[in-house]
Amino acid sequence: MIFEHLSAGGCQSYLVGCDETCAAVLIDPEISLIDRYVALAARDGLRIHYLIDTHTHADHFSATQKLSRQLDVPVAMHRVSPAPFVDLRLGDGEMLVLGKLRLQILHTPGHTRDSMCLRVEDRVFTGDTLLIGATGRTDLPSGDPDALYDSLFNRVLRLDPALKVHPAHEYKNRSHSTIAQELADNPRLQIRDRTAFAEMMRNLNLSMPTHVTEALRTNMSGGKTVAQMLAEAAANVPFMSLTELKARTETGANELIVLDVRERDAYEEGHIPGAKLLPRGQLELRVNQDLPDPTRRIVACCEFGRISTLATSTLREMGYQRAVALDGGMKAWREAGYPVKSGREP
Ligand SMILES: [Fe+2]
Repeated sequence: MIFEHLSAGGCQSYLVGCDETCAAVLIDPEISLIDRYVALAARDGLRIHYLIDTHTHADHFSATQKLSRQLDVPVAMHRVSPAPFVDLRLGDGEMLVLGKLRLQILHTPGHTRDSMCLRVEDRVFTGDTLLIGATGRTDLPSGDPDALYDSLFNRVLRLDPALKVHPAHEYKNRSHSTIAQELADNPRLQIRDRTAFAEMMRNLNLSMPTHVTEALRTNMSGGKTVAQMLAEAAANVPFMSLTELKARTETGANELIVLDVRERDAYEEGHIPGAKLLPRGQLELRVNQDLPDPTRRIVACCEFGRISTLATSTLREMGYQRAVALDGGMKAWREAGYPVKSGREP
């Protein structure tokens, strides 16, 4: 078995492959590591056959949908997953075949209703059902402390005690544990009475994960994250540096249009001398009237350099082939001590 373990923050993902046939599965991929997964699979001579999310993640952005498009392979999740982009819906007791490897599916609701554990050879990928020294929380959407009790005590913890445990989260850099170790040392598993366990889970009072709203929105719907929208726009546009723009505006030549896409009040407080105001929200409405020459070179700027990237991408789509985005924004421009003009547009 070929085995790779990757970590993004506390989120763990795993590439598991058959060393005879080179068929592999990628478990719980995270969006920032897409290039690394593809590179690792190539380095190890593996072809990914399935992309699996062990459950609907509320704390990080799943890469399954994006990788599915990129690699043309199916996304597999438990059948009750709300995500509309799941190609292969799995049920308890089923198996995925990867060459000589057999990936066994255990439905283990509790952390979420669609949680699964995946057992292959000498190890079990426990998702957020069982963590090293902890369990998944049950206070997020579709969590259920009673179901978690059953999934743990009547399913996962009855597996072979020697099985290695690979969770979806680990914050202390431990690579794995075993079922036996968890039974012995995991503090939450020492409470073996159902009612007491559920009571303990209900009273953990954990803080909400960062990005919970955005993670649930995108992981449940297949929609894009704001970072993805920005990365896609950035991949479509060229940039101009602050120093380059300063040098070019100083010559006073009417060579380019500096397009400030912030709101009017921000513009009037301080803008690049000579900049034209066209707020991002008005762009499509006013573009024909305000930018009649699509061959002009346009440098879009905003406060932080993000909205201007989106605006530039839109301008390019509309045929402004010389639109570029400022690399940085007005904040960086001011901090560099570059010239700023206040007041209305001339
Ligand atoms: Fe989770």
